[in-house]
Amino acid sequence: MDRTDHDAPNAMTQELTGRPTWPAAGARKEPMSTNALAPDRSHAGKKVLVVGASGFLGRSVVRGFASAGYEVRGLVRDTAKGARVLEDGGTSVLGDVLDVRSLEVAATDCFGVIHLAANPPVESDTARVRVEGARNIVEAARRRGVRRVVVGSGYWVYRGQPELIDENSPVDPRGESQINYDAEREGMAANSPGELEVLVVRPGMVYGNGSWFRGIAEAILSGKYRLVGEGTNRWSFVDRWDAGAAFRTVLELGSAGEIYNVVDGHPATLRDFADFVATQLGVSPPAAITLEAASGEMGNAVAHHLAADRPTSSGKLSRLGWRARVSSFREGVPDLLREMFPRNARTQ
Ligand SMILES: NC(=O)c1ccc[n+]([C@@H]2O[C@H](COP(=O)([O-])OP(=O)(O)OC[C@H]3O[C@@H](n4cnc5c(N)ncnc54)[C@H](OP(=O)(O)O)[C@@H]3O)[C@@H](O)[C@H]2O)c1
Repeated sequence: MDRTDHDAPNAMTQELTGRPTWPAAGARKEPMSTNALAPDRSHAGKKVLVVGASGFLGRSVVRGFASAGYEVRGLVRDTAKGARVLEDGGTSVLGDVLDVRSLEVAATDCFGVIHLAANPPVESDTARVRVEGARNIVEAARRRGVRRVVVGSGYWVYRGQPELIDENSPVDPRGESQINYDAEREGMAANSPGELEVLVVRPGMVYGNGSWFRGIAEAILSGKYRLVGEGTNRWSFVDRWDAGAAFRTVLELGSAGEIYNVVDGHPATLRDFADFVATQLGVSPPAAITLEAASGEMGNAVAHHLAADRPTSSGKLSRLGWRARVSSFREGVPDLLREMFPRNARTQ
């Protein structure tokens, strides 16, 4: 939805009706992070703006802040999606990351802004939403005296390697991760310690009811999923609500201009992960296809990403006090599958 300067001043008055609620009745079936457990009102009154608030990661970030007593504004492009923000404990504001004026209005009085806008309806707009969006957010933040901006990215920017990956490991962005990487750099270029401080968060494979995890679980259930390569490459995972809490830790305690990985510290091979999901769903382990065949089917960048070895550490974030409440997918996935596929998933 395009919004004009003329429309934007109304954004604040177009907040959807209803009060932020916590917890939303019947809203949460997935486990919550202890990092975001009982409402801790110590941040009461502190305002943050989440851009991309109705998205998979954005929703967990809204909850992560709302549960700690922040006043969370979630930028949405249409009123219907504002209901999600309310459910997650925030208040929705209409706007668009490509419309600086709407961002400015939404960011008024905010301590921080989180950039998680992505995946617009027209795929070719993705780079604009991520990269130009980052530029617009820092511009709006500067104009409104916002102290901190956190740019959400992903651990796919790292080059695969057998050694543990930390924030200093070499990168090799390509495809979607190139766009995330460009968004990081756009944000970091504006970092000005003591004035407008910019930080980057690189979550690993964030699992929850939606996004890639729903896609993989459905494909495994229907027998259509194929591992790329041998499946001996390692992925690094994190529970959705733990990831949301991590953004809060970074906004509050991270150092200006720094990058923070967010993973649960228990990387696993893709074969172990996929077989575990299959077992929980009571179906056969998925077959595999070669990297070459996968590249032909889904493109080189995606196939490469799926086959990359990325055992990753979030030690830097842990030193800020963040802990994954759900220690590994072996703990988090069974309940999640029961919620998503009640007729198929193992009951215990
Ligand atoms: N999902 C994961 O496991 C994961 C892991 C690591 C990193 N990441 C990264 O995190 C970011 C967000 O991913 P996600 O999975 O949360 O994506 P998502 O579920 O598709 O959410 C994207 C959000 O951005 C909003 N949006 C799109 N265009 C916009 C615009 N022009 N202005 C304002 N908002 C706009 C969407 O709103 P509408 O619904 O209205 O379109 C939606 O709320 C991406 O960069 C992704 O690479 C994701």
